[in-house]
Amino acid sequence: MKKKIFSAMRPTGKLHLGHLLGALKNWVSLQEEYQCIFSIADWHALMSEYENSRPLRSYGIDMALDWMACGIDPEKSIIYVQSDVSEHLELQMFLSCLTPLGWLERNPTYKEQLREITSRDLQTYAFLGYPVLQAADILLYKADAVPIGEDQLPHLELCREIARRFNSIYKKEVFNDCRAILTETPRLLGLDNRKMSKSYGNTINLSDSEEQVETQVVSMITDPKRIRKTDPGHPEECNVYSYYLVFATKQAPEAHQWCSKALKGCVDCKKNLSKSINQELKPIRDKRAQLEQNKSRIEDILNEGSKKARVIARQTIEEVRQAIY
Ligand code: TRP
Ligand code: SF4
Repeated sequence: MKKKIFSAMRPTGKLHLGHLLGALKNWVSLQEEYQCIFSIADWHALMSEYENSRPLRSYGIDMALDWMACGIDPEKSIIYVQSDVSEHLELQMFLSCLTPLGWLERNPTYKEQLREITSRDLQTYAFLGYPVLQAADILLYKADAVPIGEDQLPHLELCREIARRFNSIYKKEVFNDCRAILTETPRLLGLDNRKMSKSYGNTINLSDSEEQVETQVVSMITDPKRIRKTDPGHPEECNVYSYYLVFATKQAPEAHQWCSKALKGCVDCKKNLSKSINQELKPIRDKRAQLEQNKSRIEDILNEGSKKARVIARQTIEEVRQAIY
């Protein structure tokens, strides 16, 4: 039997290059070796977007589109919407009972988000329990491994601690340990050199048109010390060059030369980069356009996915109930 992989993303808007490099490419390649389960974590999204809940459903469908356009294959993997499988909540409840408050209050990600996100009130009962639902996600499918970004490591650690505590209290090895699969991709900064994030409006989205990509790349911040075209630049200090290293590897040495020797201007350098990014995005864009023509098929795929997910989830819930009662 293949080992199981579980991962999820919150549907909070359009996916961007950061998602492609930081997660999706990795997910796509894991599909060959593992039984993969990919969840659209709309309940996790609801925990912060509860006042703006209406678009979550369509964001989720849009995200499924992006996933499939990137190569997530519903023939190989299970793709479903979390809120279509209510067993997540049942397991969350059982796990909540044995999760000490202190574990949740100490969680660094939680503390950081309370500090950083001020546009919404996150001082809620549900948001404190965010990692318990996440643990339920993973444990419901008894995943062996979870591909995640580094920022999610504290959540995975909590998941393992909760699993161990469950097994020890009920004296039954219901849950196995699961490990993280960290994606070793260079962190791409956004167009303005800050972290790439939808909330900063500094992303290149997977669904952007060729023209949009070019305009956005041309707007990127460059080496501030290169003021005139005749000034030599410092590629190592330029975000554009770090994009070359990811999207135009072959041309990177050339770009290094024309920058540090002032052979070409920044606009040319950036226009050239946008061609490579567009080349990378073209197959995704084409696949997306093709999938978009038949949106009802996406809904069918998600329904199928939740049926398959529920078969596994029910089985786990049975075991959990037997261990508890
Ligand atoms: N918290 C994750 C994020 O924000 C999303 C998520 C929810 C998740 N459930 C999960 C990730 C289970 C991995 C496994 O990115
Ligand atoms: Fe950056 Fe390219 Fe300009 Fe050099 S030439 S500063 S790498 S944009």
